[in-house]
Amino acid sequence: MRRTTTGDLRELKTRGVPIVMVTAYDFNSASVAEAAGVDVVLVGDSAAMTMLGYASTRLVSLDEMLMLTRAVRRGLTHPLLVGDLPFGSYEQSDDQAMETAARFVDAGCDAVKLEGGSDAMVDRVRALIAAGIPVMGHVGLTPQSTGEGEGFHVHGRTADDALQILREATALEGAGCFAVVFEAIPAPVTALLVPRLDVPIIGIGAGGATDGQVLVFDDLVGLFAGRAPKFVKRFAEVRAEMLSAVERYAGEVRTGSFPDVAHGYGLDAAELDRLRTLL
Ligand code: KIV
Repeated sequence: MRRTTTGDLRELKTRGVPIVMVTAYDFNSASVAEAAGVDVVLVGDSAAMTMLGYASTRLVSLDEMLMLTRAVRRGLTHPLLVGDLPFGSYEQSDDQAMETAARFVDAGCDAVKLEGGSDAMVDRVRALIAAGIPVMGHVGLTPQSTGEGEGFHVHGRTADDALQILREATALEGAGCFAVVFEAIPAPVTALLVPRLDVPIIGIGAGGATDGQVLVFDDLVGLFAGRAPKFVKRFAEVRAEMLSAVERYAGEVRTGSFPDVAHGYGLDAAELDRLRTLL
């Protein structure tokens, strides 16, 4: 099996086969995504909160993102790998965006994602694509534009707001994005907008009418302890499993029942006797 391409995603959309995307932030989560056979892996700037404990996605640095990206690359073979351009690393100019995106490609990404559909962002997308770097767009709720402590809100709840989302997605499609993320958009709005777009739309909290879905790894496996948005479905309770494991480990260390003979190395009896003598 070869690596998924942006062309494969278009073909999945044409055939009506849902695209599966998940975030990953390290070698282990990437290798789980690989084994599960997902189509796209995003090193999301949600790593700021899930991996690094920051209060906002805005706080993760480019260097931190690149370190995580390299680890994810080592755990992946087949899914398309997308790097999320972090806040402050691409907004100023096309040159800044190109320099940042090139570092993600150097770290092993097949494509990058940026947030927003303003004229400036559409220019950034055009510049990156002209330089040969595929770009995924992101409209609706764009966490990088949300100030610390402001909370995340559903977008597209008025007709005007919904039309604005369509305008931005259409502009990103026109600029050449290979896919666009719809985040936190009412399902009936998504259902009306998606048929008006040719580009594959990947939803998160945007209902089922998209061409694919994305969830944050830590949310879907039940690893993240914080308050999750309404759209998150926890498919496992890994945090509870981990907590129980570490509690049992601590208990066994404290009672002396771990390590036992089965979890240690022995020594040939004669060699042990010789050591005793030498000592
Ligand atoms: O950073 C992230 O995890 C994202 C997804 C929610 C699309 O941007």
